[in-house]
Amino acid sequence: MSVTSLPASIDETQALLERAGYVSDRALSTVLFLSLKLGRPLFLEGEAGVGKTEIAKVLSRALGRKLIRLQCYEGLDIASAVYEWNYAGQMMAIRLAEAGGTVDRDALESDLFSERYLVRRPLLEALQQQEGGPPILLIDELDRTDEAFEAFLLEILSDFQVTVPEFGTIRAEAPPIVIVTSNRTREIHDALKRRCLYHWVGYPDAGRELAILSRRVPGANERLAREVVGFVQAIREKELFKAPGVAETLDWAQALVELDAVALDPALVGDTLGVLLKYQDDIARMAGSETKKVLDGVRAELTMG
Ligand SMILES: Nc1ncnc2c1ncn2[C@@H]1O[C@H](COP(=O)(O)OP(=O)(O)O)[C@@H](O)[C@H]1O
Ligand SMILES: [Mg+2]
Repeated sequence: MSVTSLPASIDETQALLERAGYVSDRALSTVLFLSLKLGRPLFLEGEAGVGKTEIAKVLSRALGRKLIRLQCYEGLDIASAVYEWNYAGQMMAIRLAEAGGTVDRDALESDLFSERYLVRRPLLEALQQQEGGPPILLIDELDRTDEAFEAFLLEILSDFQVTVPEFGTIRAEAPPIVIVTSNRTREIHDALKRRCLYHWVGYPDAGRELAILSRRVPGANERLAREVVGFVQAIREKELFKAPGVAETLDWAQALVELDAVALDPALVGDTLGVLLKYQDDIARMAGSETKKVLDGVRAELTMG
């Protein structure tokens, strides 16, 4: 991993992302630049599959920094997020000490609660100095955890330190670059948002989605790419249970390329809708004449524009 210094402007931020394969827009580049510059965590909220997680991954690659990811889930606790003691190792050390005869209790205890048996989980690991500079700490899908964990996180994001009762306080020499994401299945508390810079990651407009598709699925020809993007953009306007994200656009385009498609037709769309839509009600809604109608609309717009 080669190490790159932080971008010095919004344009540089955008170019940095672009080189690493991420097609950003001005608003996102601006907030990311500021978050790096001010050393403030970046809170990204948006529907699933719009490129929130990808930003952290791309940034890690582009800056040559280690990516430390904390995937949140219901019931996530400190032992999985911050640290735990290696009990099995500690037990073994006690047995060995006992077997060896003379046990110096104090020495044994301080050995048992030393670095040696401390298992570092993502949040603690992120406080450690890493090769290439402070790491990127991705706290992904925070909305899946409970409020107790959120409160705890708030504390860490305030002082970038963790106290392990048996061991002492571990403080980051330089704070990590923090990116928090949420799919907004619930609201995140104001207190946590206040620590961060906020950005809503929306669906890209047609121009940007086409640019993303060209970067990520270079095998798709121009016509197919335009039709795919036009179709996806059109059905996002429909009241679907789950509108397709960028991830689905890319999957669909890739699938069509695998089928040697050079353009869309109603039958082809009907046969491949399951790549784009993941709920039977949505598929049923788009099947048949509805697909033809949308497709005709897309064609008309493309020939006009
Ligand atoms: N602006 C973008 N530029 C390049 N690829 C993107 C962009 N937005 C989304 N993607 C692609 O879409 C997919 C889903 O993105 P992801 O970050 O996992 O979504 P989210 O975390 O918002 O659910 C990834 O494979 C990523 O490559
Ligand atoms: Mg994600």
